[in-house]
Amino acid sequence: MRILVVGGGGREHAIIKALKKNPAITEIFATPGNGGMEKDAVCVNIGAKDIPAIVNFAVEKGIDYAVVAPDDPLVLGAVDALEEKGIPCFGPRKNAAIIEGSKAFSKNLMKKYGIPTAAYEIFTELEAALAYIKTCPIPTVVKADGLALGKGVIIATTREEAMEAVTDMMANAKFGASGSTVVIEEFLTGPEVSVLAFTDGKTVKPMVSSMDHKRAGDNDTGLNTGGMGTVAPNPYYTEDIARECMEKIFLPTVAAMNNEGRTFKGCLYFGLMLTPNGPKVIEYNCRFGDPETQVVLPLLESDLLTVMQATTNGMLSETEVRFAKKHACCVITASKGYPEAYEKGYPITFTEEAEKHTYVAGAALKDGVLVTSGGRVTGTTAVADTLEEAIREAYRLSDGVIFQNAYRRSDIGQRALKAEK
Ligand code: AMP
Ligand code: GLY
Repeated sequence: MRILVVGGGGREHAIIKALKKNPAITEIFATPGNGGMEKDAVCVNIGAKDIPAIVNFAVEKGIDYAVVAPDDPLVLGAVDALEEKGIPCFGPRKNAAIIEGSKAFSKNLMKKYGIPTAAYEIFTELEAALAYIKTCPIPTVVKADGLALGKGVIIATTREEAMEAVTDMMANAKFGASGSTVVIEEFLTGPEVSVLAFTDGKTVKPMVSSMDHKRAGDNDTGLNTGGMGTVAPNPYYTEDIARECMEKIFLPTVAAMNNEGRTFKGCLYFGLMLTPNGPKVIEYNCRFGDPETQVVLPLLESDLLTVMQATTNGMLSETEVRFAKKHACCVITASKGYPEAYEKGYPITFTEEAEKHTYVAGAALKDGVLVTSGGRVTGTTAVADTLEEAIREAYRLSDGVIFQNAYRRSDIGQRALKAEK
């Protein structure tokens, strides 16, 4: 079988490594992939958003199954375009990917179907948003409606900050068209949990839960990033909470999307906050999380391709999705300065052991040498019987990823470890 994976980060590398365990797969192509995954896939220099070129390539190569991993191509309709040419895909169609593509859509969906989430107001006029901020409870949360690389969320602790945030989004187009509509919502508190779930639009099979570490600095200080590390499972996500989420959030969401004529197939990501008033949805994503995937898939014991195909074919209820009862920790090695300005082009070397456990994100081949090309450069994952061991091992292995100006948080998993105890 010939597989195409659209995307080029650590998440895609983790998906590719998991797919490769299936002996029926003869070739995997990645568009665009990156220089660090050349051993695992044939990387083809087509951007993840260049849908016509992706479709042409897939047809030309006789691709049997495509996995569209990032949000942008999903929201732009990559699955629809590939399916039109008869290529089955993993991922939602455009009309369902809107669950991530528009926060206004997802908030209204949750309100309409009684799915627990933060109270909110939606604004398309700056004046009205500013007037609302004069009296709303503080802190408050300002979100750009559209995709903004995870940066379109501002937690404002003063009215001035909130006003500056909406002005930046609505008048100064800080996030382009994504910010012409804003959602202003209630500030919630409690531990955060990421739950990725396979769904074929009928059945929902959640994966092992995980915990992201979004801030750049130790002890959750500094700017928000795409994620500096993850652990799985998330110790706050007990069996009772999982049952409650299934009943009040996961199944109602899938049913709501069906009812709206927007059946969701693929991986639905629930960003949850376990508030004193029960679990609430912070965000939906229409795809695997990054770097959640780098801890979730190494724990998957079932065959990934079989499960993915079951979501496409509507066979998920008959398909086993089994996870190892172990722990995983992924430590991101970033370029110093990320998520702001950082230098690129430094050669990367790995110990043999580290390379085996590392997913490459921001790297490129330059004259045959692997060099840094992005903010988050690699994610190194260890699996062990205990969380403590997984953390220790992930850090030990990460020391085998070497490049100039490398930066890691030193406390990935520590909060989870405390929660366990
Ligand atoms: P998002 O991009 O929607 O995941 O938001 C980024 C981060 O902002 C989340 O992981 C939360 O830590 C925080 N956040 C988003 N919405 C809220 C909220 N309503 N209350 C408190 N924190 C929030
Ligand atoms: N790690 C958060 C996300 O993938 O959106």
